[in-house]
Amino acid sequence: MIESLLPCSVNELKGRTALVTGAAQGIGLAIAQRLGAAGANLVLVDVAGHELQQVATHLRERGGSVIAKVMDIADRPSAEALRAELVEASSGIDILINNAAIGPERNHPAYLVAKPKFWSTPDALWIDMLRINVFGAQLLSSLFAPDMVGRGWGRIINVSTSLDTMYRQGIGPYGPCKAALEASSRIMFQDLESTGVTVNVLLPGGPVNSRMVPADCGITPQDLIQPEQLAGPVLWLCSNKANGITGRRFIARQWDERLAIEDRLAKATAPIAWPQLGAQSHFPTPAANS
Ligand SMILES: NC(=O)c1ccc[n+]([C@@H]2O[C@H](COP(=O)([O-])OP(=O)(O)OC[C@H]3O[C@@H](n4cnc5c(N)ncnc54)[C@H](O)[C@@H]3O)[C@@H](O)[C@H]2O)c1
Repeated sequence: MIESLLPCSVNELKGRTALVTGAAQGIGLAIAQRLGAAGANLVLVDVAGHELQQVATHLRERGGSVIAKVMDIADRPSAEALRAELVEASSGIDILINNAAIGPERNHPAYLVAKPKFWSTPDALWIDMLRINVFGAQLLSSLFAPDMVGRGWGRIINVSTSLDTMYRQGIGPYGPCKAALEASSRIMFQDLESTGVTVNVLLPGGPVNSRMVPADCGITPQDLIQPEQLAGPVLWLCSNKANGITGRRFIARQWDERLAIEDRLAKATAPIAWPQLGAQSHFPTPAANS
C-alpha cells in the first residue's frame, strides 16, 4: 500500500522502451517527457518532422535515449520497417502509447461554436480519420503486441475521449472514430488477458490546452486541462505497480495522486467502452465445431 502511494522513482522505467505516437507536441510530448524522466528509452513518432526533431534534440540534451521517427502511424510499410529496426537493435518495445490523431479542428476551426452539420464533412476527412485515429492504433498494436506477449510484459495505452465527445454535435467523424478505438481497445484487452500485456484507455476528461482546441473554439487556455495532467496516470500504468491492471479507462482529470491507489482507481477509472449496454443483447452460444 505505502509503495503504491509513492510517485514513480527516477529510474522506475529504466530498461523499458516506450513508443509514443504524436510525440511532437501536446499530450504526446507531455507523456514522452514524463516517461523519459522515469528512465525509459524513447521511440518518438510523428508526421510533424521539424517539431519532432526539436523535441528529440531537447530530450537527448537532458540525457535521454531517444529515437525519433518521422512517419505516418497508419502506413504499414513504415510501421513494419520501424518494428524490424527496433527488434534488430534491441528486443522491440515494452510500452506503446497510441496517442497520435487528427482532430475535429480539421473539420472546422471553430467546431465547438459553429457546430458544422454531419453532411458538411468532406469524404476525405472521414476516411483520413478512420485511417489515422482508428487503424493507426490497430496497426501498431498488432505489430508490437506479439513481441510483448513473448516477453510476458507489456503496456498498450490508447488515448480516447469522453463519452459525450463521441457524439457531440459539430465534432464530425472525430467522436465516432474515438468510439471505434474504444471498442477496439476492449477487444485488444480481452485478447491479451493473462499474457502480462495490459491494455487500457486514457482520456483527459475535457478539452485540453493543445493544438486540437484552437482559440477559435471560444475556450480560454487556462480553463482547459493541461497536457501534463495525462502523464501522471500513464507513468503509474507503465510501472510494475500496475501489473494486472487492464481493461480500464482512465480519466486524467480525476486522477488524484493524494489518494490511496484503491481510492484513486475507484474515482478515476471504469471498464473500457460500454459493457453494461452489451449485457442487454441476446447472443446464443455458437457450437464449438461450427
Ligand atoms: N486536445 C483535446 O482536447 C483532446 C481531448 C480528448 C482526447 N484527445 C486526444 O489526445 C491525443 C493527443 O491530442 P493533442 O491534443 O495532443 O493533439 P495535437 O494535435 O497537439 O497532437 C497530435 C499529434 O499527432 C500527430 N499526428 C497526426 N497524424 C499523425 C499520423 N498520421 N502519424 C503520426 N503522427 C500524427 C500530429 O502531428 C501531432 O503532433 C489524440 O488522440 C486526441 O484525440 C485530445
